[in-house]
Amino acid sequence: MRGLATILVTGGAGFIGSNFIRYLLDGKSGFTGRVINLDALTYAGNPANLAEIEAAYGGDRYFFEKGSIGDAALVDGLFERYRPDTVVHFAAESHVDRSILGPRAFIETNVLGTFTLLEAARKHWKGGRDDALFHQVSTDEVYGSLGTDGAFTEETPYNPRSPYSAGKAAGDHLAMSYHHTYGLPVTLSNCSNNYGPRQFPEKFIPLMIQNMLEGKDLPVYGDGKNIRDWIHVEDHNRAVWLVLNRGKAGEKYNIGGENEWENIRLLETLIAITARKTGRGERQIRETITRVSDRPGHDRRYAIDCGKIKRELGWKQEIAFEAGLEQTVDWYLANQDWVKNIQSGEYRRWIEVNYGGR
Ligand code: NAD
Ligand code: DAU
Repeated sequence: MRGLATILVTGGAGFIGSNFIRYLLDGKSGFTGRVINLDALTYAGNPANLAEIEAAYGGDRYFFEKGSIGDAALVDGLFERYRPDTVVHFAAESHVDRSILGPRAFIETNVLGTFTLLEAARKHWKGGRDDALFHQVSTDEVYGSLGTDGAFTEETPYNPRSPYSAGKAAGDHLAMSYHHTYGLPVTLSNCSNNYGPRQFPEKFIPLMIQNMLEGKDLPVYGDGKNIRDWIHVEDHNRAVWLVLNRGKAGEKYNIGGENEWENIRLLETLIAITARKTGRGERQIRETITRVSDRPGHDRRYAIDCGKIKRELGWKQEIAFEAGLEQTVDWYLANQDWVKNIQSGEYRRWIEVNYGGR
């Protein structure tokens, strides 16, 4: 029987992690325990993502701890103080383009940080505990790139092709090795591209929405025909919660939207929605689509076969893509303060470095 009394969430101030903590504490999940959020607040972490949670539950059911998962003394101290029975490990450097321009942080967090967390869990949960669980949140990108047919299954061999996905793959292998070698209760999930509110506007969907709102060019890499499988962040997090409750230690679960889109076709849809909501001309926005040079090693297509989690845990997607996109555009329209706050000097420098030459 899983404990699920004290959950240590890493990276809970980021896009998916903050949504997960909201889901845990807002009553929909049925969770009644407390959450410890360990986040280094890198450029992608934003405490404003959890301001209402802090106000409602801070110091009672919600505890924020600023720090790195790679800081062994800090992580050890958190295990001592809070005695978590569950770790949900979201913290990562997550942007592929950044990993191409500067891979070191990706190895430090996604590989060494994961190792440090696993070591702490091994030390504090030694002797075998069937109420404990370490859940490693991973990505479909570790499987590599698909041709025109087929989909990744849990049996597809890992074949990462960017420093980001190679680091995630290394973290995944370490997590599973701790299960096999030390008996650490570990589950792992590989999810496809998430979208929804509070995604940092370096990723495709929020970047395009924000650029449209600011009248900027819409940079499409290569021929625009790369394919991603999109899932709403809330559908992803309901799946993670199910794995925590009913997933089997030592098992991995694919999570996906079963919703493949060519980038250019998705952008056209986003343009239509944004034009309608802002009253701007669709043709005028389309003229700002700009072909830029391709991402090096750009994976062509991802698609997830999520039959296992549907069959074994009874999960399914609930948010239709059109409705989810509408809600996401509405959120960015209504939360321009949030965007402006994070458009810090560092963020502007990144846009300059990544897009300056193309
Ligand atoms: P994000 O970049 O929005 O958030 C990452 C969070 O981790 C930030 O709050 C950041 O401050 C924190 N962080 C980074 N380094 C840290 C460190 N050393 N110690 C503590 N905290 C640190 O990322 P996201 O999109 O929310 O992704 C979360 C997880 O989900 C990642 O593990 C990612 O690989 C995985 N994932 C993401 C997607 C996606 O489409 N975004 C899809 C599948 C899986
Ligand atoms: O598949 C899951 C992964 O999805 C996660 O593991 C990653 O953390 C997450 O960042 C995401 O990776 P992608 O590289 O697929 O997402 P991104 O939003 O960066 O890009 C989506 C597609 O859009 C990809 O084919 C590249 C393209 N793109 C992206 C940007 C930022 C553009 O054409 N122009 C752009 O400016």
